[in-house]
Amino acid sequence: MRLSRLPCATALLAACVLVKAEIIVDLDDSSSIRSAASTVAYDMMSYYSGNTSGGIIGVLPGPPPNPADGYYWWESGAMWGTLVDYWHYTGDSSYNDVLQAGVLAQVGENKDMMPSNWSQSMGNDDQGFWGMTVMAMAEAKFPDPPEGQPGWLELAQAVFNTQNDNKGHDDACGGGLRWQTQSYLTGYDYKNSIANGCFFNIGVRLARYTNNDTYAQIALKSYDWVQSIGLMDATFKVYDGAHITTNCTDVNKVQFSYNVAIFLLGAANMYNYTTDDQRLYWKTQVDGLLGATLEVFFPNGIAYEVACEPQLTCTTDMFSFKAYLLRWMATTAILAPYTADQILPVLRTSAVAAAKQCTGGTNQRACGLSWASGTFDGETGVGQEMATLAAMFVNLQALETIVPPLTNATGGTSQGNVNAGVNVNNDLTTTTPATTADRAGAGIVTTIVLVSVSGMFGWMSI
Ligand SMILES: *[C@@H]1O[C@H](CO)[C@@H](O)[C@H](O)[C@H]1NC(C)=O
Ligand SMILES: *[C@@H]1O[C@H](CO)[C@@H](O)[C@H](O)[C@H]1NC(C)=O
Ligand SMILES: *[C@@H]1O[C@H](CO)[C@@H](O)[C@H](O)[C@H]1NC(C)=O
Ligand SMILES: *[C@@H]1O[C@H](CO)[C@@H](O)[C@H](O)[C@H]1NC(C)=O
Ligand SMILES: *[C@@H]1O[C@H](CO)[C@@H](O)[C@H](O)[C@H]1NC(C)=O
Ligand SMILES: *[C@@H]1O[C@H](CO)[C@@H](O)[C@H](O)[C@H]1NC(C)=O
Repeated sequence: MRLSRLPCATALLAACVLVKAEIIVDLDDSSSIRSAASTVAYDMMSYYSGNTSGGIIGVLPGPPPNPADGYYWWESGAMWGTLVDYWHYTGDSSYNDVLQAGVLAQVGENKDMMPSNWSQSMGNDDQGFWGMTVMAMAEAKFPDPPEGQPGWLELAQAVFNTQNDNKGHDDACGGGLRWQTQSYLTGYDYKNSIANGCFFNIGVRLARYTNNDTYAQIALKSYDWVQSIGLMDATFKVYDGAHITTNCTDVNKVQFSYNVAIFLLGAANMYNYTTDDQRLYWKTQVDGLLGATLEVFFPNGIAYEVACEPQLTCTTDMFSFKAYLLRWMATTAILAPYTADQILPVLRTSAVAAAKQCTGGTNQRACGLSWASGTFDGETGVGQEMATLAAMFVNLQALETIVPPLTNATGGTSQGNVNAGVNVNNDLTTTTPATTADRAGAGIVTTIVLVSVSGMFGWMSI
């Protein structure tokens, strides 16, 4: 760690030597990786106030406009998922209690990661990110919840079952899952890669974990549909989504790193889970998706969010995408070990570049997202810390054996329930009877969501 010079000029010497600025990491030294990761994890968690008065357990401040720079509900679930991996890779359990309490506080009335509190931003992908977090908890043998609380596996099954059942899964465009779960939400007429990617990803991981092939068969239908509609093209590039008003012919060709990575990890699970001919098929899918990932998102070997990083137009959501890209690539290299030769080198070059630009903020070590530029880009937040955190800990994989995602047959102990989430009422308007005041409030939120959604997707849809 380099010491900050700035406070030393003005402050007491005793204070100045305690300030650690910049993230310095030696990727050939696992204790250096652990130390850097722990610093970034601490900085990321400094945004979380769920366990202080005025905060809500399990969620980051937000959604916008309360405060304007706040976070949508899904990103909190994604942050807990990153912390599951952080603990799994490093062994540092400092945040496990706050993580477990946070996830359990957000399971929702039907224990399906769909709390009615967030009915104004409940996309299938929002629920899906929490679903992938609880799936990761089962796979990593995260300490089971207290007696009487749903198991991690059971929660993941509930997410899968609600998405398999719900009205977002219909015949429009010949199949697939809609972006939003509720017909009153903007984007209900959009079928997109991330919603279907979450469903596919959770489904194949459930199949692998439980050895119940029904999940894989259902998940495969989503994968085939995504290819048939051209959301994934013949060169394995994955595009954003399409509208049912055009029978999904208006494919919006913007590419985000998490879209290709979510299918890559799903395909790697299928490669690991299947045998013989099917495994050969999934190897071609893994190879294709990995090739597209490296080509589009790693110019110069450094993770690059190509849709928004060049013009510095990334939104709060997009700042976090590299976290999933790197984590899911790292797990791909575990489940399809032959890919490690291609994956580990770019995890390394990305981590070097990520650490170098963490010089922002008042502590002089806040991270931005412009890793390839070599300098801090001026924007700080949970997403940037999460992405740098992931870049640090995944590099332990080059030095140590990381326990692969477990299954029920290889030591996983999470309690499941095949019927979790089946036939529950997912209509969030009926689970939260709206008072006049609520309706007025909801109207404002919807307008804001609309504005931010068109801010995010408007320019890409044209
Ligand atoms: C909130 O959780 C963090 C992380 O476990 C802990 O360091 C902090 O003391 C907690 N704060 C309160 C007010 O409980
Ligand atoms: C739901 O929102 C209310 C009001 O903000 C909050 O007090 C409560 O803790 C939230 N519940 C959950 C489970 O997040
Ligand atoms: C809509 O798209 C689906 C999937 O590509 C296709 O099977 C179906 O025939 C299309 N419907 C019309 C009316 O074009
Ligand atoms: C396998 O999963 C399906 C889909 O959830 C479920 O209906 C079935 O009961 C499961 N089979 C077993 C043996 O658990
Ligand atoms: C499946 O993953 C395990 C854990 O990393 C690995 O040992 C095994 O070789 C993988 N299977 C295949 C077919 O690569
Ligand atoms: C999981 O493994 C346990 C112990 O080996 C076994 O009793 C149980 O039936 C398995 N569950 C499933 C869903 O296969």
